[in-house]
Amino acid sequence: MSEYEKFKAECVTEIDAQAQDRELGNLSGQWINRTTTHKYSYHFEWLNRPIIQYPQDIVVMQELIWNIRPDLIIETGIAHGGSLIFSASMLALLDMVEAIENGSTLDPKHSSRKVLGIDIDIRAHNRAAIEAHPMVSRIQMIQGSSIAPEIVAQVSEVASNHERILVCLDSSHTHDHVLAELEAYAPLTSVGSYCVVFDTVVEDIPAEMFPDRPWGPGNNPKTAVHAYLKDHPGFVIDRSIQHKLLITVAPDGYLKRVK
Ligand SMILES: C[S@@+](CC[C@H](N)C(=O)[O-])C[C@H]1O[C@@H](n2cnc3c(N)ncnc32)[C@H](O)[C@@H]1O
Repeated sequence: MSEYEKFKAECVTEIDAQAQDRELGNLSGQWINRTTTHKYSYHFEWLNRPIIQYPQDIVVMQELIWNIRPDLIIETGIAHGGSLIFSASMLALLDMVEAIENGSTLDPKHSSRKVLGIDIDIRAHNRAAIEAHPMVSRIQMIQGSSIAPEIVAQVSEVASNHERILVCLDSSHTHDHVLAELEAYAPLTSVGSYCVVFDTVVEDIPAEMFPDRPWGPGNNPKTAVHAYLKDHPGFVIDRSIQHKLLITVAPDGYLKRVK
């Protein structure tokens, strides 16, 4: 066993112990509830665009992208574009690494790697900022509801030209919408890659935190994930990720495609 493998084995033991620490789990839940009242997830940027995520989840997405080496990342929910820019920047790094590994020249404007973002309302100022961003060459945006048949068809058409696909669902957070997104997009996930369903944490947060939202406990991405998994054995919840993070908006949302 290499020193790195020994270190990783120690991490697994430590993460298992951490996951069994109920008091820490409760404290982490309390922390998430409290930060929700301050709109904590709205206060970060990735390469100068607001990204509506917890930093912990961003770090894990970096780990997933590095390990999967996708050539397509499909994201529902663009908002200000921060998560698109994050994914595009990770794909740019992958291109750089592969150019070094292959001894080839890097041509940043001609990469086969791409992020495909879908949003029902791409606001003009967000679109303009994304289109002016240095990462734009790897980004394609589609405006429309992510569950509309014509949008699903466009996304499937793009996906048919790619081999390693990672999917991130972060648009409307109602049960029915996320279940329809899972039906449409989870099958595009390549075996060994992930379909990440954000904001499953809504199930664990008191209903009064979402007074003006159609979602809440009992009607949210986590209930959709559990319904979807009942008859889709090709996916498993990778709980090692939430055990590691403790603070995540996607508990039970990191779905690994195993077959
Ligand atoms: C939480 S934000 C996305 C945040 C973004 N992924 C990030 O990390 O910065 C949710 C977005 O979903 C979009 N949305 C809401 N309903 C939608 C639908 N039916 N189809 C596609 N997008 C939708 C909203 O317009 C909003 O921009």
